Amino acid sequence: MKKGTLLYEGKAKQLFQTDDPEVIWVEYLNQATALNGAKKDQINGKGELNNQITSLIFDFLASKGIKNHFIKRLSATEQLIQSVEIIPLEVVVRNVAAGSFSKRLAIPEGTALKKPIVEFYYKNDALDDPMIIDDHIRFLEIATGEELAILRQMALEVDQALIELFDSMAIQLIDFKLEFGRQKDDTILLADEISPDTCRLWDKKTQEHLDKDIYRRDLGDIIPVYQEVLNRLEKRGE
Ligand code: C5P
Repeated sequence: MKKGTLLYEGKAKQLFQTDDPEVIWVEYLNQATALNGAKKDQINGKGELNNQITSLIFDFLASKGIKNHFIKRLSATEQLIQSVEIIPLEVVVRNVAAGSFSKRLAIPEGTALKKPIVEFYYKNDALDDPMIIDDHIRFLEIATGEELAILRQMALEVDQALIELFDSMAIQLIDFKLEFGRQKDDTILLADEISPDTCRLWDKKTQEHLDKDIYRRDLGDIIPVYQEVLNRLEKRGE
């Protein structure tokens, strides 16, 4: 497999063509951003950690029967994925109140939610990724009603699988963001990444943040924290 021309550069990843039109070569970058790009820093080692963490998590989800884009990890910072057309939605699942949910509804962070809550945000930088409802998604023709039902169901399946995974690592899964894509035949695959950049993870014993809130809230250095998440994931596989 050969790395071809750059197709897309996001905030944390570059996507390259390969000699197979169905396969994309991903390079994880060291850039960290928050507040829709308003806060930006280079953090050495971040790309490597997220690539390794995401790879292990997508393999775990595949073992649980959740169809996803991950093919294999190539190096510390690179992986191969299936080519998909990304559906421009951020699908957020919440188990415990935190972040924008706590702010919007004045619910203290840490309040357990009786049932997981699924939210959809429109991936659109110019609009600042607004939260949208099912009718908006259908009006904008972002996804069909049938696809939305699949996204919701897959998101809840991922939630169950990840709660189990993180629980075995003494971590509480607070919330996370997923993205999905369509293959040529319209099959929906879980895509993008699952890492401490995209999840809120609290240490079960100490309640410490093991995620990007460390960066967003200026609580310290994310590298030792992300390394701790990777260490616990690897230990689990031994
Ligand atoms: O900020 P908010 O509380 O809505 O975030 C919910 C979850 O989605 C958090 O785990 C956060 O890391 C993730 N998220 C993300 N990318 C975004 C927005 C939120 O990964 N653009």
